Amino acid sequence: MRYDGIIFDLDGVICSTDEYHYLAWKKLAEKLDAKDFTRKDNERQRGVSRMESLEVVLEKVDKKFTEEEKAALATEKNGYYREMLAKMSEKDLTDEVKDTLDAIKAAGIKIAIGSSSKNAKFILSRIGLADYFDAISDGENITRTKPDPQVFTMAAEFLGLPPSRCLVVEDAEAGIRAGVAGGFDTAAIGSATKCSFANYRLSTFSDLKAIVL
Ligand code: BG6
Ligand code: MG
Repeated sequence: MRYDGIIFDLDGVICSTDEYHYLAWKKLAEKLDAKDFTRKDNERQRGVSRMESLEVVLEKVDKKFTEEEKAALATEKNGYYREMLAKMSEKDLTDEVKDTLDAIKAAGIKIAIGSSSKNAKFILSRIGLADYFDAISDGENITRTKPDPQVFTMAAEFLGLPPSRCLVVEDAEAGIRAGVAGGFDTAAIGSATKCSFANYRLSTFSDLKAIVL
C-alpha cells in the first residue's frame, strides 16, 4: 500500500461546512459594518484558528477592539455557525465521500480527522460519522493551528503511524503547508489545488481511490 493512514481535514473536505464558516463570518462582518467582506477574504480564513479568522474580518472595520471584545465577537460568530451546524444531518455527507471513505477503510488503511475546529466532533455527529474514524485530532487537542503541523503530527501519533506513511487531504493552503512542514505527503482539493507544492491535486473526492488503493 502506498499509505498506511490518511488524515482528512474536515471543513471543505469531508463536508461543506466551509460555506457555513463563510456565511457566519459574513453575518458578523455586516453587523460590524465591515467594508466589503468577500469570499476572497474568506479564503484566508481556511484552516486557521477562529481568532485568526476574526482578525481577517476586523481588518475591514474602522474600530479597535479589546481582547475581551474580540473574544465576544468570536463567540457570537460561533453561535451563528452552530445554528447552521445544528440543521445538518446525514444528508450533508455526500454518497461520493461516504463511498470513498468506505473503500479506503475496507482496504485496511487507517483514517483520521485533522481539523483546526473545536466543532469537529459536533459536525461528525451531525453527519453520522461520530464513531467512524480511527482517530480525531482537532481544535480541542492542539495549541497551534495550521500552517503549524501539530494537528497532523498528533493525528499520526493517535494512529500509531509515522508521517512518512500518511497522506494529508486538505482544501486550505495553510493545511497543505502544515502537511509539508510535518513531513506528510499532501493531496489538495478545492481551493488548495492552486498550491504547486501539493503532491496530488484532486478534481473530485473520489479521485483519492486511484491514488491510495
Ligand atoms: C477550520 C476552518 O477547519 O477550523 C477555519 O477552515 C476555522 O476557517 C477553524 O477558523 C476553527 O473552527 P471553529 O469551528 O473552531 O471555529
Ligand atoms: Mg478545510
